[in-house]
Amino acid sequence: MHVLVTGGAGFIGSNFVRHLLASGEDRVINLDLLTYAGNLENLAGLENHPRYRFVRGDINDRGLLHTLFREEDIDAVIHFAAESHVDRSVDAPRDFLVTNVMGTQALLEEARQFELARFVQVSTDEVYGSLGPENKFREDSPLAPNSPYAASKAAADIFCRAYNRTYGFPVVITRCSNNYGPYQFPEKLIPLMIANALADKPLPIYGDGQNVRDWLFVSDHCTALEMVLHEGKPGEVYNIGGNNEMKNLDLVRLLLAQLGKSEDLITFVPDRPGHDRRYAIAADKIREELGWTPAHTFHEGLSSTVQWYLENRQWWEKILSGDYGQYYEKMYGKGGRHQAGDPEDSA
Ligand code: NAD
Ligand code: DAU
Repeated sequence: MHVLVTGGAGFIGSNFVRHLLASGEDRVINLDLLTYAGNLENLAGLENHPRYRFVRGDINDRGLLHTLFREEDIDAVIHFAAESHVDRSVDAPRDFLVTNVMGTQALLEEARQFELARFVQVSTDEVYGSLGPENKFREDSPLAPNSPYAASKAAADIFCRAYNRTYGFPVVITRCSNNYGPYQFPEKLIPLMIANALADKPLPIYGDGQNVRDWLFVSDHCTALEMVLHEGKPGEVYNIGGNNEMKNLDLVRLLLAQLGKSEDLITFVPDRPGHDRRYAIAADKIREELGWTPAHTFHEGLSSTVQWYLENRQWWEKILSGDYGQYYEKMYGKGGRHQAGDPEDSA
């Protein structure tokens, strides 16, 4: 197939582009705007790959989309491009509306003019909101987003559903839990904590650190997405998750132990507004219908992730020394929302 990947220079997208090329897909076109989160170094070595093309551009650029669909004879789309960080969505919700909602609708509208086998909307478990101590998210759980990021992904999902029901467009939606692995931008929990620990800087834990996330190694997400791309049933939703729940504080302690650093670095900071308490995914449907299971245990995935960040310091140190440094100061520095202070503030 000729596959258009959007957002393929980001964390999951770049892992997926490598995955698709390694598994022999005929042609992979990567459309990415290269925002702060997009990084061509994530794709180093693929520049002259005979079955790969990178195009810098915006999913909101309808003219560019039309040209690409025609010129490249696209058979399928897998749509990663998004603003993906919850904390940023608290400060700049409109960017999330423009990219995640309007961008998705622009892509759907252009794509439906062509005969596609599938359009995969890479969504998130955050559209379901927050869980109490019991139960897991199922595909028919109600949408109840709590952050502007989650709201924008839920809105995009609903557009995808409507394009399937109204126009018969072959959209499949996936909703995955928290990913971790190589090339994850260091604003996200695991790489941020690794980078800070290695620099002996405080590790900012939001609130009481008891929020639960359900972690999946990124290459396991990629195998699930490849199955959905080829075999997913149009109009359906597939949850993807590693059955691997962990409290943030426990995860950070694990990382510190792996890095041989002291728990004294842990610093409780004021909580994220609207912070979801717990995510947990029931992934029975994709397991039973498509035969997917994760290949990595959390222990294996986390160890190899830590190893990757140790061996690729130049990759993330370059990011930390650029514009991202200003974001970090704004968020965690003096006067920032997550500035360390009186621990009672954070409880
Ligand atoms: P990321 O922030 O690392 O990458 C996003 C990519 O999209 C970047 O390369 C960026 O340049 C590109 N992009 C942004 N706006 C664009 C635009 N207008 N046009 C073209 N490209 C644009 O994100 P990620 O963590 O890799 O997440 C990828 C997708 O997977 C997102 O849709 C996200 O909602 C979803 N998702 C992420 C996770 C996770 O744990 N990271 C879990 C479930 C689902
Ligand atoms: O569940 C899937 C989602 O996972 C994706 O849709 C999002 O794109 C992705 O960013 C991720 O969202 P989270 O908000 O769960 O990830 P983040 O890494 O930002 O935070 C994970 C947990 O760690 C969350 O409970 C907040 C907490 N946290 C995060 C940061 C950055 C901290 O305690 N301190 C921090 O400095």
